[in-house]
Amino acid sequence: MTSPLRLGIAGIGTVGAALIRLVQDKASMLEERCGRPVEITGVNARDKNKDRGISLEGMTWFDDPASLAKSDEIDVFVELMGGEDDPALSAVKDALNAGKHVVTANKALLAKHGVELAQLSESKGLLLNFEAAVAGGIPVIKVMRESLTANSVSRVFGIMNGTCNYILTRMEDEGLSFDACLADAQALGFAEADPTFDIEGNDTAHKLAILASLAFGTRIAPDAIYLEGISKITTDDIEAARDLGYRIKLLGVASRTSAGVESRVHPAMVPLGSPIAQIAGVTNAVSIEADTVGSLMMSGPGAGGDATASAVASDICDIAKSKPGHQHGPALGQPAVSLVPHERAEMRAHAGGYFIRLTVLDQPGTMASIATRMAEQEISLESIVQRRAKGESASELAPIILITHETTEAAIKTALKGIESDGRLKGEAQMIRIEKLG
Ligand code: HSE
Repeated sequence: MTSPLRLGIAGIGTVGAALIRLVQDKASMLEERCGRPVEITGVNARDKNKDRGISLEGMTWFDDPASLAKSDEIDVFVELMGGEDDPALSAVKDALNAGKHVVTANKALLAKHGVELAQLSESKGLLLNFEAAVAGGIPVIKVMRESLTANSVSRVFGIMNGTCNYILTRMEDEGLSFDACLADAQALGFAEADPTFDIEGNDTAHKLAILASLAFGTRIAPDAIYLEGISKITTDDIEAARDLGYRIKLLGVASRTSAGVESRVHPAMVPLGSPIAQIAGVTNAVSIEADTVGSLMMSGPGAGGDATASAVASDICDIAKSKPGHQHGPALGQPAVSLVPHERAEMRAHAGGYFIRLTVLDQPGTMASIATRMAEQEISLESIVQRRAKGESASELAPIILITHETTEAAIKTALKGIESDGRLKGEAQMIRIEKLG
């Protein structure tokens, strides 16, 4: 009989438990497809006695991830602990140094240390697989690393955080408050341990940093990503967007521009009829624009135990099928030493249309002063709408919505400063970028 591939799994949370169940339930199917049995020989988690509703029979329990990573009982170290540094980082290094292949779902770890880990895995002739780190069950890493080898990518963008998309969808569909939707996302188990990572865009930025590296052959650079989350989006914005034919989504976008790579995570207006606008709830979608193939879009579950375990299992099967010297290539699509620095295009140079929502004093001259400030920056307006005010001081205040034609971020910021200094604005201006699609 062919020798089994022996797994050591560190971290038995939602994904770890789903993976153990999957490997047990589909043992014969995996054996057939991988050409050898896949067995879990070692496990590690924080609490040995926790009831996870799964059987750990036949698996050796390790009290710390490092000893599991180095154990002679395993061939592959599966890191499902999470966290950008230790203990995950040192356990992964220990595993590679001990000659074990590594599978990880840890986007934060890869965003921060991915290049170093890729280099280590290559120097040891081992595989470092991370399909589950980006967009959960969607096989986007495989597509970018393997299927698009003959392409130059110009833009990769998408909805990569299920929690944010779930919140925005429910706010729009049910008119619920942001806080109520976030509480439900946490109860359903797809928000991060600290949900600010979801709602402030950090989780999307980690995933985008990995995709940008694969797309452009650059070193992973999470700090080069412009970041703005969804916590300031209100139901007023969502309603106004819909009235004007748009929907608000938290997008991660990385594109090649003449000034370098523009990487950004922020709420964006997308046309109501566009495919990305149809992505609802916890579903993720990733779109890739490339020279040879054209445009691709993949959508599917971006979080959740089974969907993420499906991606982890595919990485494991790739290792089971690989032979020394016949593997699927470097972790980041090209040798880590050949990755070039991420040359950052500054956000102030970003070009696009903008949605602006202002609450202003309802007085003669207000609209003229706004138009003047826009004209000073040579910003052309596509539409300007005064909506009916709500609430107590409704008679003195007027909500105004502007949609601009393409301009630059620098111009729009200067115009908004001018409008603020004119003293007719109540509260802060809301500014949401319109994403140019197709
Ligand atoms: N918190 C993440 C999300 C989980 O909501 O998409 C998957 O990375």
